[in-house]
Amino acid sequence: MRVFGTLRNLSLATGSAIATLTLIGITAGIAPAAEPRPESEVDYRSQIWPIIQEKCLECHQAKKRQGSLDMSTRALMLKGGDSGPAFVPGNVEKSLMLELIEFGEMPPRKSNRPAVTKEEFQKLSRWVAAGAPVTDEPGPPAPAPTPAPTP
Ligand code: HEC
Repeated sequence: MRVFGTLRNLSLATGSAIATLTLIGITAGIAPAAEPRPESEVDYRSQIWPIIQEKCLECHQAKKRQGSLDMSTRALMLKGGDSGPAFVPGNVEKSLMLELIEFGEMPPRKSNRPAVTKEEFQKLSRWVAAGAPVTDEPGPPAPAPTPAPTP
């Protein structure tokens, strides 16, 4: 829960800058209709995965799982960490990872990871808003298939 304490302090300090960012992020991120519109969808494999891979996975995969969160697949992101799911499909405002990115908490400033850019943040927001569709998920390799029993 340390995340939330930090967030509160941070928002007191930089309230208006953040309000502006929120506006930009959210107005750009949400299509007015509730139905995902295919033409506005962000492709996971080419647009979302590279961001996660470069800026999050170092600390959020099977071997490390900071905050108990593994981000290597959509299902694991939904399973979430200590504070719940990393995002809520179709709900940008309830999506913890977007909140933490927006507040500059993730990736942590003291890490050597480059920050998520505004453009990347908007892609992530659009993807979540569209219900976080995933095709062709790279993720970790699937477990080896169980060998067929030999008669
Ligand atoms: C250098 C390591 C590092 C990187 C890179 C990193 N994180 Fe984190 N993340 C952490 C740590 C440490 C915590 C736990 C913070 C705490 O509990 O105070 C955390 C916690 C979180 C949580 C909350 C988990 C929970 O349920 O409590 C989310 C969501 C999250 N990170 C998302 C991201 C996203 C999205 C990225 C990439 C844009 C990212 N992180 C990159 C270290 C990292």
